[in-house]
Amino acid sequence: MTDVNSAPAHVLAARGGDPDWWRQAVVYQIYPRSFADGDGDGIGDLAGIISRVGHLAELGVDAVWMSPFYPSALADGGYDVDDYRDVDPRIGTLDQFDELVEALHARGIRLIIDLVPNHSSDRHEWFQAALAAKAGSPERDRFIFRDGQGEDGELPPSDWRSLFGGPAWTRVPDGQWYLHIFAKEQPDWNWANPEVRADFLRTLAFWGDRGVDGFRVDVANALSKRLPEVLPSQEDLADETLYAVGDHWLWDRDDVHDIYAEWRTLFNKYDPPLMAVAEAWVPAERRIRYADAAGLGQAFNFDLLRADWDPEQFRTIISDNLALAEPSGSSATWVFSNHDVVRHATRYGLAGGGDGNDWLLSRGTKPVEDRDLGARRSRAVTLLALALPGSTYLYQGEELGLPEVATIPDEARQDVVFFRKGGIEMGRDGCRVPLPWTEHGTSFGFGPNGAHLPQPAWFAEYAADVQDKSPDSTLNLYRRALGLRRKLQTAGTLEWLMTDSTVVAFRRPNGWVSMTNFGTEPTALPEGELLVTSGPLNDGNVLPPDTTVWLRTVE
Ligand code: NOJ
Repeated sequence: MTDVNSAPAHVLAARGGDPDWWRQAVVYQIYPRSFADGDGDGIGDLAGIISRVGHLAELGVDAVWMSPFYPSALADGGYDVDDYRDVDPRIGTLDQFDELVEALHARGIRLIIDLVPNHSSDRHEWFQAALAAKAGSPERDRFIFRDGQGEDGELPPSDWRSLFGGPAWTRVPDGQWYLHIFAKEQPDWNWANPEVRADFLRTLAFWGDRGVDGFRVDVANALSKRLPEVLPSQEDLADETLYAVGDHWLWDRDDVHDIYAEWRTLFNKYDPPLMAVAEAWVPAERRIRYADAAGLGQAFNFDLLRADWDPEQFRTIISDNLALAEPSGSSATWVFSNHDVVRHATRYGLAGGGDGNDWLLSRGTKPVEDRDLGARRSRAVTLLALALPGSTYLYQGEELGLPEVATIPDEARQDVVFFRKGGIEMGRDGCRVPLPWTEHGTSFGFGPNGAHLPQPAWFAEYAADVQDKSPDSTLNLYRRALGLRRKLQTAGTLEWLMTDSTVVAFRRPNGWVSMTNFGTEPTALPEGELLVTSGPLNDGNVLPPDTTVWLRTVE
């Protein structure tokens, strides 16, 4: 690592200060290929993002999380990384990356970048070297190579399935097999190899020195693996009687935290320390290990991705997660949408709830999406989440209330999930359609020359410039809410208010009250100053169904 104090002046200036900035931050996720296209090749890029920093500042976010922007063959939307210390030429250059950091920092916005440490891409220099080298070589030891079973090793080392469908082992020309728990283009790193560990430390320092403020860590629960001579079967992997908690072969092993402890030492050399948030699909009580201050420091809670329009579910999710965050010393996290799931403006407009996958499989026909209902409810739950203690992660386009696109023709689809699991899952293209910035013009202002995924005609009505002019638009609701939150947010505590069972209401310090009506009847509002509402109140004294209000009450 270079001397952290030799970072550019703007980096040091932006850094100076609050080591806890992330605890109650609003973080906006950019999926760079679909945010804004500066050079007209139909693919979003850094120039596009730089041109829209004003939008982010006006929105009032504290930080940006940028999904992978590294050179990649896009076998998995960029989560197949060819080179961890460079920018994909279609997305920009390292100089432009520096420009972006500077532009964000100048507006007081931090930058978190996505790090993909479980697997690389099959085009990564070290994987190519592994292919060129012999079985048993140091080059192969950086990945997970094995001989096959059967007389000539023609059978894979185990019957494991990849998470994207198909076998988790792929054979190379000399007969050995390599492990990939995702696509075959994403070979898993061997984290037992010190060279791999050292190289990732170099990567972390490379970006830390360039001014990033933190990392979102992809599949953080998979890096460490226990791979005995005789491997368990796919069925064994799911049999809880065959392994102790924390000692599974592939997932959520206790010793994965040794890796993060090393990273933390590096993070703490920066002032303020770099932050990290783990993507770890693990049971809630195991999540706190990832959120530990001696490790990554924060972890995503994905419960709201699955929350139905149900007050009891919301109450439980909120109290459980606040209770978990406390002993971990971290803060809670809240997220309704990201680049892997059906947008919540659509989810909440589907009768029967659920994750929207069946609706996607029906090409958006069953059930019929109720856009108005989806808009009302998604605005209401977002306003609720923005009043909670902890960090809220927003996904690009949700500030426009953008629904999911279910009508992408098969031939235009890009997601590996569609190709490998088509018929069971439609994949994630529908939430990755390039954003509409303007009502008119090529690709609704995404770029000067079309968009890499087709945008439907109805995107026009969601365009940022249309919403900018309308005081009651979702965009202006987000802006108001984020502005207020910044002023109101103090200690991360919450006090539940006793209400009707269909109403979720709580008070934060400063008399800040959030109240959401999940029922079918209007409910009385307490006395207080009305701060913001997710929908029209009509009569000032009652809160209509499907609506959240923030009030300032006298404590
Ligand atoms: C989680 C990411 O969010 C997802 O998009 C990706 O496909 C997998 N990890 C594999 O990297």
